[in-house]
Amino acid sequence: MKFAKNILCIGAGYVGGPTMAVIASKCPGCKVTVVDINEERIRRWNSDDLPIFEPGLLDVVRSARGRNLFFSNDVVEGIKAADIIFVSVNTPTKTFGYGAGMASDLQYWEKTAHEIVANSDRSKIIVEKSTLPVRTAEAMERILQENKKGIHFEVVSNPEFLSEGSAIMDLLEPDRVLIGSRQTESGRKAAQEIAAIFAHWVAPGKIITANLWSAELSKLVANAFLAQRISSINAISALCEKTDADVGEISYAVGSDTRIGSRFLNASIGFGGSCFKKDILNLVYICRSYGLNEVADYWQAVIVINEYQQERFVRKIIKEMFNTIVGKKIVLLGFAFKANTGDTRESPGIHVARKLLEERAELVISDPQALANARKDLAGLADSVEYEPDPYRAAVDAQGLAVITEWESFKKLDFARIFASMRKPAFVFDGRNILDHQQLFSIGFNVFPLGKPNLTHFK
Ligand code: UDX
Ligand code: UDX
Repeated sequence: MKFAKNILCIGAGYVGGPTMAVIASKCPGCKVTVVDINEERIRRWNSDDLPIFEPGLLDVVRSARGRNLFFSNDVVEGIKAADIIFVSVNTPTKTFGYGAGMASDLQYWEKTAHEIVANSDRSKIIVEKSTLPVRTAEAMERILQENKKGIHFEVVSNPEFLSEGSAIMDLLEPDRVLIGSRQTESGRKAAQEIAAIFAHWVAPGKIITANLWSAELSKLVANAFLAQRISSINAISALCEKTDADVGEISYAVGSDTRIGSRFLNASIGFGGSCFKKDILNLVYICRSYGLNEVADYWQAVIVINEYQQERFVRKIIKEMFNTIVGKKIVLLGFAFKANTGDTRESPGIHVARKLLEERAELVISDPQALANARKDLAGLADSVEYEPDPYRAAVDAQGLAVITEWESFKKLDFARIFASMRKPAFVFDGRNILDHQQLFSIGFNVFPLGKPNLTHFK
């Protein structure tokens, strides 16, 4: 079949895979190929055992795979055939040299740009999907224009705002699609071409065009603002615990102000995920590199509070369990960085688990999707950690439960049955405030919510 356009995506990860699956399902006239250097990943994208867990993803993949959606390891062939190339390779925080621990590691991006130049014999649009420091496109343009073939690459920024666990809904019904381009004739034309893809299912009013630098920076700023809300409410949760105020009531009261809004005000053990920390660190680094130290300090505080919140949670567990947890069995209910995903990147669960193990607790981790990743994250500590998908079995002889992830299934557990199988006194530390604390207290648990008064049976 002849397709109107050949779209390629380099990088079949959490962003590239779902995004391209939705584009293919909505644009049957386009051929969408997703390539990746990782053979195992591609093998799984071509099976029903997809490499990432995302509600609704398999149905979308199945609707288009083999028709106009293809997954392959052949990066070179993919580049040759493409009219439009989305790049969604990973851009992790740099671990070495200047900017280590702060700046983005752009080596995969740059390598990809060189591969594109080497294997192209006609002009193409290159779309930045990965989150990148502002003005990366300038460096990319320089690499891409260094070709001796007389072909033109127009670099466009189309940051991805999908959130894991709801990626398919976010892609099908986005709040907005942002497309940044050079404000030249060819830049605007390229932006229109990308907009036309999304126009197959997104209302025109939601497709925003901007200059290239605004689009690149908007992604960092959107994530920084979201994370800042969480750190703001988490900071207040600490004050609530000192004053008997209830952080849930405060979120509700404050979030009812339409100027503030109610979302992203759930107190938690801290935000995780591959983006928030990495993007804020990157923002901070960029600000410092321009000498904007006050601005950098302001955003850095969002991370400081996030680390403080995780640390506070661990300290509370130790203190309330009589200042020693040596040999005590503690169940982590959840390990994913949020519900509805198996992803554990930057999950607060990693920090909590490591700290509890340093205090020589015995850990059992129970999560419906994230146990395989949890094992990798805690590799080397295997002897003191058990991984048990069934929360009832996990809780037998345990002394404490700590909620790490807000899975719906945890709310529905039979806590009377769990309590009966545990050692006494039994403790619950609800790092997500998802459980019915009064009910747990009535059953006999000593309950330690976050930012709310404790409910204990101790005199
Ligand atoms: C995305 C974005 O692209 C990243 O910039 C953002 O900040 C986080 O989300 P994500 O899809 O979550 O990344 O990353 P990951 O799941 O690691 O996927 C990246 C894929 O690119 C991997 O499958 C990796 O094998 C592939 N890759 C990496 C290549 O195909 N070629 C490379 O040279 C490097
Ligand atoms: C985020 C952005 O939301 C998305 O737009 C961007 O493209 C990628 O980064 P993601 O990391 O997948 O998405 O999940 P998100 O729902 O934003 O949650 C991030 C973290 O914040 C999770 O650990 C979550 O549990 C936590 N969180 C979220 C809270 O602690 N409280 C809240 O009220 C909301």
